[in-house]
Amino acid sequence: MKNFTYWNPTRIIFGRGTIAQLRDLIPQDEKILMTYGGGSIFKNGVYDQVKTALQTMSLQEFGGIEANPTYETLMKAVEIVKKEGITFLLAVGGGSVLDGTKFIAAASRFEGDDPWDILAKGAKVKSAISFGSVLTLPATGSEMNSGAVISRKSIQEKRDFGSPLTFPLFSILDPSSTFSLPTKQIRNGIVDTFIHTVEQYLTYPVATPLQDRQAEAILKTLVEEADMILSDPKDYDAMATFMWCATQALNGVLGCGVVQDWATHIIGHELTAFYGLDHAETLAIVYPALLRYKKKAKAEKLLQFGQRIFGINGLKRDDQIESAIEATETFFHHIGMPTRLQNYQIDAKEAAEKIRERFILRDNKIGEHKDIFPDDVKAILLAAA
Ligand code: NZQ
Ligand code: ZN
Repeated sequence: MKNFTYWNPTRIIFGRGTIAQLRDLIPQDEKILMTYGGGSIFKNGVYDQVKTALQTMSLQEFGGIEANPTYETLMKAVEIVKKEGITFLLAVGGGSVLDGTKFIAAASRFEGDDPWDILAKGAKVKSAISFGSVLTLPATGSEMNSGAVISRKSIQEKRDFGSPLTFPLFSILDPSSTFSLPTKQIRNGIVDTFIHTVEQYLTYPVATPLQDRQAEAILKTLVEEADMILSDPKDYDAMATFMWCATQALNGVLGCGVVQDWATHIIGHELTAFYGLDHAETLAIVYPALLRYKKKAKAEKLLQFGQRIFGINGLKRDDQIESAIEATETFFHHIGMPTRLQNYQIDAKEAAEKIRERFILRDNKIGEHKDIFPDDVKAILLAAA
């Protein structure tokens, strides 16, 4: 097991009717800016619940944070924060609203020339406004981690940052607030949770049997519950299970002491930046191709994954590995998630070359062995045609 430090200061409040607890979670004298997305919170009653809980407090609003939140929109919120002397942010929505709010929190206190440097140059976050969240979409784990991914439309970039100062102070997870989710978003959430888990598990063994079982618990639960989650989005228990899986998959616990990959996410972000695909759609395209490309390096864990998650036993070693990859792809197809670029009318040759060039510029080597170079990224994307 590798050395690690684990610290997670976010308080989770989970369950039915918990949005009402907001009034006790935010000090009375804070000047609050509530942030939200394109309006789903008006239709499912979440907005009303937040307003009722905070009716005695100073509360302003900033809506319109888009899926794959943009720097351009978020900087408008930064202006409001500064002008109005906002002291607390409350993100109400999915991962995009939460991520966007983390950026607003850090950018509002940034002392350099341009807060984009936090994303593009890794400029240190020295101060950030406190914030909490009300989560309405299980997927990203943003509710209990310190990371955020922000896009800049004008230059077609999607970059991430994280800081110990951008953990939410608290996150409220009421599974009933997810009942209004369209099937597409639930499917996205299942795939994102699945991939967060394997990015921290399906690498190579370093003697972490507990962490392996923790990851496998999430994967197995997703595979077993997916039909239930998708067939009735108003099934409270199924949504509660899914919501807690998503949080657990990326709150840092699975990553303790293990070797991590994240190549699929890094390549996927470029597909979103250039072609506007949803985050999870990019992951389902890249992952099966990446597994095939890296199946030798990942062989031991692929065998374990195939056996423990999909019950693949009794075949020759190579067949066992290929079956594990096939089972992953089949699972994505089973829940209605495409796994090829052609499903989105994207020309693989063009995409592979564009993204290869971007990796050359960034000079980043990715994967658990840091051995995925620009030409490898190209080969993986060509294989995902
Ligand atoms: O904008 P509104 O109107 O709220 O609608 C949203 C949006 O259209 C809708 N939605 C959310 N909750 C709903 C709902 N619709 C009906 N009922 C509800 N209860 O769903 C749509 C997608 O929302 P979004 O927040 O974009 O989805 P998600 O939570 O999947 O977040 C994706 C973003 O998170 C980043 C991704 O890159 C992407 O930008 N990620 C963040 C991570 C992190 N912070 O740790 C890790 C992830 O790997 C990921 O990269
Ligand atoms: Zn993700």
